[in-house]
Amino acid sequence: MVDLRVQYEKIGSEIDNAIKSVLVSTAFIKGPDVKLFEEELQEYVGVKHVISCANGTDALHLALRVLGLKPGDEVITTNFTFIATVEVVALLGLKLVIVDPEPGSFNISIEAVRKAITAKTKVIVPVHLFGQCADMESLMDLAKKHNLFIIEDAAQATGSDYIFRDGTTKKAGTIGHIGTTSFFPSKNLGCYGDGGALYTNDDTLAKKLRSIANHGMKIRYHYDDIGVNSRLDTIQAAILRVKLRYLSQFNAARRAVADQYDKAFESCNSITVPQRVSYSSHIFHQYTIKVKNGKRNDLKKFLESKNIPSMVYYPGPLHMQEAYSYLGYKENDFPVTSTLCKEVLSLPMHPDMEQEQLDYIILNILNFFDK
Ligand SMILES: Cc1ncc(COP(=O)(O)O)c(C=O)c1O
Repeated sequence: MVDLRVQYEKIGSEIDNAIKSVLVSTAFIKGPDVKLFEEELQEYVGVKHVISCANGTDALHLALRVLGLKPGDEVITTNFTFIATVEVVALLGLKLVIVDPEPGSFNISIEAVRKAITAKTKVIVPVHLFGQCADMESLMDLAKKHNLFIIEDAAQATGSDYIFRDGTTKKAGTIGHIGTTSFFPSKNLGCYGDGGALYTNDDTLAKKLRSIANHGMKIRYHYDDIGVNSRLDTIQAAILRVKLRYLSQFNAARRAVADQYDKAFESCNSITVPQRVSYSSHIFHQYTIKVKNGKRNDLKKFLESKNIPSMVYYPGPLHMQEAYSYLGYKENDFPVTSTLCKEVLSLPMHPDMEQEQLDYIILNILNFFDK
């Protein structure tokens, strides 16, 4: 699905030098590269504070922790996401309220959010799924009206632009009160292990986030908050500094692959290509088609037989997972999610795809439907 080996071969010497400089410095925890990476990412995404942490799940956890919520406060998020988005809500004893996504964009449905808001709602967590932003302007309007916090889960959308009604843009994750991201190796900006970060323009939140991500310390061995150990390793920060310099180029290369897929499948009635919404650029963390007439699993098997990987993100609706049965949702409560789980298929997508590989994938998919 993602060829990190080819990418390493292309930028390997820069990466090796970056790692070596940390090894020589022995500044493994909170070394200079961590601060430099935070500053460079701040500049890239256009936000006042970037607070790095150990992974994208911790980033979500810290974001919810810092808001000072009480058990039972309600958090609305989408049913069509990676489990990390919902598990942190459950772990903090908050009430998880999940809603359907839009069938076209795969992102949280504004209409569904509107219906789910109650007097106990405190936070909405939109996820910018597969590399395209959720409808942030509508969500910010709702947040303002009902006095809610917005935490953007931008794990899959580092570098994606949200386009406001007046034509101005902001990077994914920098519009809500807090944004979170992940540097999991396969992400558009991925490190060589685990990593994550939070974005905010709020000085007070930033200070507190920094503190709780580092044992609750603002001053060494003085504990103002009950904290955790969630820090980005210096080696990972050094790697990310190199990869950040290539991010725009890598995202453009992904878009070029997506354009070719779109064009090739244009006349194939059995495939719906990913919708591109007017209010966001798409950085194609995933290129996810919908396969009609119950043929998704057969197509996946056929591709396997041709040595072409594909993945189902996400195969089972969250509300039907054993761990979340306590929420009491019923099978048919989320028809959009249930249908998507049966139809979606993500195809190989990365910045280093060879034309020959892409042609082979496209040819086999079209052959499958011509049979
Ligand atoms: C939407 C989303 N949220 C959160 C996460 C969690 O990130 P991490 O794996 O770094 O904990 C991921 C990815 O893995 C993700 O895709």
